[in-house]
Amino acid sequence: MRLRKKHWARPELEASHIVITDQYAHKGKWSEEFKNNNEIHLELGCGRGGFISEKSKQNLGVNFVGIDLKDEVLVVALRKVIEVRKVEGAQDINVRLMPLNIALIDDVFAQDEISRIYINFCNPWPKERHNKRRLTHTKFLTNYKKFLKPGSEVWFKTDDTELFEDSIEYFKEGGFEILFSTYDLHNSEFKENVVTEYEAKFTDLGMKTMFLQAKLK
Ligand SMILES: C[S@@+](CC[C@H](N)C(=O)[O-])C[C@H]1O[C@@H](n2cnc3c(N)ncnc32)[C@H](O)[C@@H]1O
Repeated sequence: MRLRKKHWARPELEASHIVITDQYAHKGKWSEEFKNNNEIHLELGCGRGGFISEKSKQNLGVNFVGIDLKDEVLVVALRKVIEVRKVEGAQDINVRLMPLNIALIDDVFAQDEISRIYINFCNPWPKERHNKRRLTHTKFLTNYKKFLKPGSEVWFKTDDTELFEDSIEYFKEGGFEILFSTYDLHNSEFKENVVTEYEAKFTDLGMKTMFLQAKLK
């Protein structure tokens, strides 16, 4: 995603109480940040925030952390959360946003702190020499396992068949069991889908959404 630099993005993020900019200060203490012991679910590469704002609204008993590398998209996500969740002034909302390179994520969450991960339409990195950058690659799964509770799930969506099929292998190699998978989510029996911005765009272009749920053994 090519984005024009928004110089106002960082100050706007830093001014919000739902954006975490001291990312490494909360490791092992995320329940204190949310002021409850509810499960915490992550969305990796949350983009413009359509998914996390809707998912967190539908699941008020779960805490959500949306992570993205780019301030320019995270600030759009922040505005989306504020709009959908009507958060003005509210301190107890069940969602936080965090600028972070996911490669560093195991420095941010402690063992057993996270119960689910959502990965929606991550970059497919099609060249073989770049495969290790895929957010579902075994290298990343090894990192996620450092903070996922046993029995946790990863829910993964993509429009890219090669990434989807390779990811099934990554999950199996990484000690996950595939609970459900489909090449056509929108025509499957799975009914609790929340559509993301990329998903809407690809669907309009006639592309199918592939989806799997993998469970850590
Ligand atoms: C293709 S977009 C998908 C956005 C959203 N999930 C959706 O489905 O509409 C991928 C997002 O992942 C973010 N991203 C890619 N690599 C990342 C990394 N290593 N750490 C954090 N975010 C990353 C990008 O900035 C981008 O917003």
